[in-house]
Amino acid sequence: MKICVGCDHGAIELKKAVLEVLQEFSHIETEDVGTFSEASVDYPDIAQRVCQRIVSGEADRGIVLCGTGIGISIAANKIKGIRAALCNDVFSARMSREHNDANVLAMGGRVIGVGPASEIVRVWVNTEFSNGERHKRRIEKTMALENM
Ligand code: RB5
Repeated sequence: MKICVGCDHGAIELKKAVLEVLQEFSHIETEDVGTFSEASVDYPDIAQRVCQRIVSGEADRGIVLCGTGIGISIAANKIKGIRAALCNDVFSARMSREHNDANVLAMGGRVIGVGPASEIVRVWVNTEFSNGERHKRRIEKTMALENM
């Protein structure tokens, strides 16, 4: 599985930690699309970089990070085919995979510490979609909203 990871200047340290955690998994390949310095960047540009890899099929999933995780998750969810979940706790991370089949995880570098964030990443990459009929139906309805 390939996971593309991106952050704005508000989550540089968190991105480093996320990439380190992903190295624990031998079946996971990562791509770091920046940003690489503390210089201010616009989170929609980073969301676009990560999500473009997913919708093109170059990556299976993505992790997007900004100061709060809010701006970058909103931006990611504007892109067709993306289901980005802002998760600052392990339960939400698990549910976002089981019930929502989230293909993007968002977190906030100014909100969450490296320890909890690392556990969230572990759970999020390890949890499969439950494939339940009702969840599939709800996701289909959600994705249909892209055409409104
Ligand atoms: C950047 O200062 C900050 O606005 C951004 O990282 C994020 O928190 C936006 O939602």
